[in-house]
Amino acid sequence: MKVLVILCALAAFSEGLIRVGLDKKKSQKALMKEYGLLDNVIATSNYNRFTKYKGLSVQPTNEPLLNYMDAEYFGNISIGTPPQEFTVIFDTGSSNLWVPSSLCSSPACTNHSLFDGNQSSTFLSTNQNLAIQYGTGSMTGILGYDVVTITGIEVTNQEFGLSVTEPGDTFTYAPFDGILGLAYPVISSSGATPVFDNMMDQGLVSEDLFSVYLSPDGKSGSEVLFGGIDTSHYTGNINWISLSSDTYWQITVSSITINGNIAACADSCQAIVDTGTSFLTGPTDALQNFLNVLGATKDAHGYESIMCNTTGQMPTIVFNIDGNEYPLPPSAYVFEQDPTSSTCYLGIEAMDISSSELWILGDVFIREYYSIFNRGQNMIGLAKSV
Ligand SMILES: *[C@@H]1O[C@H](CO)[C@@H](O)[C@H](O)[C@H]1NC(C)=O
Ligand SMILES: *[C@@H]1O[C@H](CO)[C@@H](O)[C@H](O)[C@H]1NC(C)=O
Ligand SMILES: *[C@@H]1O[C@H](CO)[C@@H](O)[C@H](O)[C@H]1NC(C)=O
Ligand SMILES: *[C@@H]1O[C@H](CO)[C@@H](O)[C@H](O)[C@H]1NC(C)=O
Repeated sequence: MKVLVILCALAAFSEGLIRVGLDKKKSQKALMKEYGLLDNVIATSNYNRFTKYKGLSVQPTNEPLLNYMDAEYFGNISIGTPPQEFTVIFDTGSSNLWVPSSLCSSPACTNHSLFDGNQSSTFLSTNQNLAIQYGTGSMTGILGYDVVTITGIEVTNQEFGLSVTEPGDTFTYAPFDGILGLAYPVISSSGATPVFDNMMDQGLVSEDLFSVYLSPDGKSGSEVLFGGIDTSHYTGNINWISLSSDTYWQITVSSITINGNIAACADSCQAIVDTGTSFLTGPTDALQNFLNVLGATKDAHGYESIMCNTTGQMPTIVFNIDGNEYPLPPSAYVFEQDPTSSTCYLGIEAMDISSSELWILGDVFIREYYSIFNRGQNMIGLAKSV
């Protein structure tokens, strides 16, 4: 709280930033317009934050809770004419858009918004099936086409999945209805054209990129900015990193060091920058030494954890990527369960993705580094988030 007050005071004295104090959002937009970024910028979605603590309290406690689908940030879209509204995860780790539908009778479909194609005058059905397997959870459904509206901008002819089954618990407890995938078409199930590809093809974005800002704990303002980069969300330079694979948003990490020593990825490793994953994850084998160095032990919920009173002595984890260092301080990866618990959990988890040896730089990483997903040049831009 104190920090917040001091920052506001400084802003008020800085040249050109006085208007920020009056109405931060409007001033930022005005600033962007000066640089031409707002022309055709198609959408900014303010996400709700789904706190870990709430996540813990609604989920079964006898299995690892944190997984591929347990993301914390989601936003609203609508589909059809008249619009039917859905809350979705904007997920850079997958490529399909799907929402629950009136054709579905799984438990997950009893308390989420359901798309009814018969209630939309612009809906086109197909008899093509869709089946998606996520890290945990899966869905099957059929494909259809309709207009998808994201903060007032209409993407026409968007192919998307209408769920017919959503087996298991994953989506039943989810605070979101469906998923809007933002990775490459090549990993799209059934070859459905992803939303951002249509945005580019339909000339809805001024630049073929989108940027993700995930605000830290307790702060609002998280957003995806389609077609532009919001200079108010980062400080310093943007480092551009060429993708090592145009499938997920995949890059090469040269090494991961702790206190100057290699803790993982001695011979480099592959990582994806994934908004749909809460944590930092790595393959079980590769992660073991890393967790030993951090002194982590598994708690009753399956989280890697430490005693909260040692948080101050925890090291900074450094990702070395393309010649630059991306430090992750303990404030970024150590979390309180609740104020009364003496153990704190780490935003780090073992996760084996097929046999790919992929690491996931999830929300824990993206909160520290404003991330720009550049489809035009197949690069990821990273800059220190503010
Ligand atoms: C999304 O829609 C829900 C329900 O209408 C609303 O409560 C929530 O504030 C919306 N979230 C955002 C980020 O607009
Ligand atoms: C529309 O309604 C018909 C008749 O009830 C039904 O067979 C069909 O599955 C519905 N279509 C969708 C997309 O819900
Ligand atoms: C759906 O139902 C489950 C089980 O009753 C509940 O825990 C969950 O919070 C509900 N989800 C939503 C989005 O209402
Ligand atoms: C942290 O607390 C535990 C008991 O709750 C205690 O045994 C330990 O010595 C404390 N460690 C530090 C560094 O204060």
